[in-house]
Amino acid sequence: MILVTGAAGKTGRAIIRALAARGAEVRAFVHREAQSATVTAEGARSVSVGSLDDIEALTRAAAGAAAIYHLAPNVSPHEFAYGTAAIAAAKAACVPRFVFHSVLHPQIEAMPHHWQKGRVEEALFASNLAATILQPTAYMQNLLASRRSIVDDGVWRVPYRVEARLSLVDIEDVAEAASRVLLEPGHAGATYELVGTLPLSQVEVADILSHALGRPVRAEAQPIGDWEKGATALDDHARDTLIRMFRYYDRHGLAGNPHALERLLGRPPVTLAGFARRAAAAFRHTQA
Ligand SMILES: NC(=O)c1ccc[n+]([C@@H]2O[C@H](COP(=O)([O-])OP(=O)(O)OC[C@H]3O[C@@H](n4cnc5c(N)ncnc54)[C@H](OP(=O)(O)O)[C@@H]3O)[C@@H](O)[C@H]2O)c1
Repeated sequence: MILVTGAAGKTGRAIIRALAARGAEVRAFVHREAQSATVTAEGARSVSVGSLDDIEALTRAAAGAAAIYHLAPNVSPHEFAYGTAAIAAAKAACVPRFVFHSVLHPQIEAMPHHWQKGRVEEALFASNLAATILQPTAYMQNLLASRRSIVDDGVWRVPYRVEARLSLVDIEDVAEAASRVLLEPGHAGATYELVGTLPLSQVEVADILSHALGRPVRAEAQPIGDWEKGATALDDHARDTLIRMFRYYDRHGLAGNPHALERLLGRPPVTLAGFARRAAAAFRHTQA
């Protein structure tokens, strides 16, 4: 049995699907009882409900697990506490393997959600657990949040320079790589950067979207203040963290290399063009 934390979010659901597709038994650790149906529908065979800062609840959930796949909620101020709680639970329940869902370039202090993951990695090294660290870059699926402006206005709008270059990855490739690392031998002690594309400028991203949709899409830089006005659903920490991330992207982008992921998958990762072709159906559905 593999315990997946943060299981009801978009990453957790993809990881459960990938593991279940390979016949693995998954126990999902979810925050709220209401999330049980979601993770069961993705293929989890059992569910534990609790908070990621509750070491006892995590330890009970981890009893009998062959591995823990730990991921923290996105832009949480508690990532370090959650990570160290999951490590403590793995040790208390004598779980032999631990896989941590980190991020590309966790060394970057200017981005708190990267830096906190780096501190969890450090705690993992000190834990003496048989650990594997996965460092995915930004997901291609993040583009889907902008489908309204892409489809309605023909604009790929980003709160940083359109010349900024980012490497992207398909979350389904991340999940497939995670399932291989969990189910195949030989990955303890490894850290893998999970990157699907060489760095793309936002102009290139818009061109690829345009080609897949069969209609013009142009890249446009949005002032961060305008983005902030629209970010009313976010709490202060999430808003501040994302603004820091946009400022970093503006200056440096986020550049990685797909070779490690290609090697793990045994095939080339999904390209942005491939993802965009697949997503075009969902975009057109939005148009209807
Ligand atoms: N998005 C990207 O491009 C990207 C790229 C690389 C890495 N990552 C990393 O991937 C990770 C997962 O991101 P995601 O967007 O899939 O996560 P997410 O949607 O934020 O989901 C995480 C899950 O954790 C649950 N949760 C929140 N607080 C909890 C608590 N105290 N105890 C137990 N569960 C709790 C949430 O439930 P509730 O609904 O109840 O809050 C949610 O179901 C993040 O660490 C992110 O930084 C993301």
